[in-house]
Formats: sequence, structure tokens, C-alpha cells
Amino acid sequence: MSDNAGRMLLEVRGVTKDYRLGKTSIHALRGIDLSVEAGDFVSVVGPSGCGKTTLLNIIGCIDKPSSGKIFLDGLDVSTFDDNGEADTRLARIGFIFQSFNLVGVLDVRENIEFPLILAKVPKAERARRVDRLIELVELGEFVRHKPDELSGGQRQRVAIARALVNRPSLVIADEPTANLDSATSTTIMEAMKALNEEEKVTFIFSTHNELIERYAKRILLIRDGIIIGEEFPGEKNPGERRRGEWSRGSAPGGDSGPHAGGGAP
Ligand SMILES: Nc1ncnc2c1ncn2[C@@H]1O[C@H](COP(=O)(O)OP(=O)(O)O)[C@@H](O)[C@H]1O
Ligand SMILES: [Mg+2]
Repeated sequence: MSDNAGRMLLEVRGVTKDYRLGKTSIHALRGIDLSVEAGDFVSVVGPSGCGKTTLLNIIGCIDKPSSGKIFLDGLDVSTFDDNGEADTRLARIGFIFQSFNLVGVLDVRENIEFPLILAKVPKAERARRVDRLIELVELGEFVRHKPDELSGGQRQRVAIARALVNRPSLVIADEPTANLDSATSTTIMEAMKALNEEEKVTFIFSTHNELIERYAKRILLIRDGIIIGEEFPGEKNPGERRRGEWSRGSAPGGDSGPHAGGGAP
């Protein structure tokens, strides 16, 4: 699981993606090579239309590459059929979307629990994991609220909890703060960073916001479907936060979280 930092988690090899539009075709990705280690916190940065969503959807098995391969935990997921992809996504990947994508008729608790029902996790175990995540994203007061009774930031915290509930190896977040104001965006980035540092969750997120990209340990710059550069913001980035500030009330040490590799909290 996500506790052995440094292990190669994701390898993207020569990935291209062409979209046909009538007689012309759009080269959305033109040869992406990328490796991500367990425990990393990577941002994919570039202007609108450069291929961020296409890349993240392909990594997340939501879309297929035109050519090239994707290895997740050493497994070639680019050749999976639809059932295999669904299983992989359920088991290994958590997804956070720009528009939250919560189920409107379900409350906070039910939204977070939903992937566990799909994965046929027994009820008592579901309750344990959901409780822990509600605590982690600080939504205890709102468990019975429906999405339309929540603020944007609260909705995205539900989406983060839902993405983590299956203890995925990798969490993909496509412009998670694009629909949030800047103060709320900061809170969401602090939350993701805390989960990376304390729970060792590996994240890849995209953004075209310069403030947000600085939260990453590693920044991949994309233009016109290729990676044109890489930066390592280092220790002095604005994402530095006071430990425990976000996950107030959770157990210290960070080893009892949803990613602790099997042991229930
Ligand atoms: N389903 C699609 N059909 C045709 N073209 C698409 C489709 N999805 C994306 N594109 C095109 O691929 C390019 C990359 O898009 P996208 O990955 O959404 O970029 P970003 O997320 O960086 O804004 C753009 O030129 C976009 O118009
Ligand atoms: Mg996009």
C-alpha cells in the first residue's frame, strides 16, 4: 500500500492521445513519459487545453491512450478491458473532480461510504473507515447534510474522503480547487498536503493556478501535450503547514489512518 515511500507506483511510457474531430485529429498528448514514486505529491501544470485532464483520465483508467502504456503498481492497466479498468479504479485509484461529482440524494456519510458498498466491504468495516475519514476531513457536524446543503469547500472535502475510503495507492485530483475561492482552495490544498504527509497518500493533481501548484513537491509543466519541464519547489513552498492543524483530533503519528495498510484504526 502507500506506506513504502520510494517504491515506483506509476510509470507512464510513451503515451499519446488523439481525438478525431471530423476530418482532423487533435493530438491531445504527444508522448508522455513519467514516473511517480509512492508518497509523492505531484502537480501537473499548464494552460487550459494543454492535456492535463486527458493525462489524468488515462492514468486513472477513465480513458485509454492511443498508444503507450501505463503501469500502476507494476500492472499494465493500459490493456485492461472495461471490467478490469473498473476494478482497478475501485481498488487502486481515488478520483477527485473539479466539480465534486457527489451524489445529490445521498448525505455526506452515504457519499463517502458509496465506493465501499460497490467494493462489497462488510458493514462494520465500512462504518469504521467512514468514521475515520469524516474525522480526518472534519465534517463530523455535517454527516446528515446533502451536498446542496454544503459549501463548495465542504463538498470537496466529502469528495476527498470518498476518494480515500478504498485506501487507494494513488489519488488523482483534476483541478480540485478550480471551482473554489482562494481561501477555500488553500484549505483544500492544506488538507491534501496533510494526507500526503501524515497518511502517506500519493497524489497527482492538476491546476493552472500558480499559488496552488506551489504546494507540490514536484511540478510537471505541460504544454501542447508534452512535458516541457519539471520543478521541485523544495522546503520553502507556501504549502508548509503546521502539523496537526488540519487533522485535528486524529491520532498522532499518522500511522493509524485509512492508509495504514490493513490495520483498522
Ligand atoms: N473528448 C474530446 N474530443 C475532442 N477533443 C478533446 C476531447 N477532450 C479533450 N480534447 C482536446 O484535447 C486537448 C486537451 O484537452 P484537456 O486534456 O481537456 O486539457 P486541459 O485539461 O489541460 O484543459 C484540447 O485541445 C481539447 O480541446
Ligand atoms: Mg482539464
